[in-house]
Amino acid sequence: MKIAIGADHAGYRLKDVIIPLLEQLGHVVQDFGVNGPDSVDYPDFAAAVCEKVVSGEANRGILICGTGIGMSIAANKFQGIRCALVQDLFSAKATREHNDSNVLALGERVVGPGVAEEIVKVWLETEFSEGPRHCARIGKLTALEARLQS
Ligand code: RB5
Repeated sequence: MKIAIGADHAGYRLKDVIIPLLEQLGHVVQDFGVNGPDSVDYPDFAAAVCEKVVSGEANRGILICGTGIGMSIAANKFQGIRCALVQDLFSAKATREHNDSNVLALGERVVGPGVAEEIVKVWLETEFSEGPRHCARIGKLTALEARLQS
């Protein structure tokens, strides 16, 4: 898959752990930064990654900040983005099966690199269940987006 990834100054170290993992798993990575400790604003990086996912230039996105919360709030402003903030393996699997999430948010200050790597692996390898009730709920999310846009 093509995976767009971005982080702020509180998440770039974890990004540097996740990128080699993605490459080792055979994915093509588009890195939108940031690549150092100078303070930046997480919405800018969420936007860069989500625009690639919405346009189809990336299949999935991964966003990392200190908590993952700011990135997930910003990402879910975008029509067509279903971003899940994940801190455990159960949620990593469930959000793919139930929500067909296309962006993963992680908090470098919350999960260690080992847990984060396992979350990423499970999130990437788990397919959407295609279950009718889950499809219907995602349809309602899409309808909500359209209604709020108008
Ligand atoms: C940066 O200090 C921090 O606020 C940011 O990385 C993130 O945790 C916001 O939700």
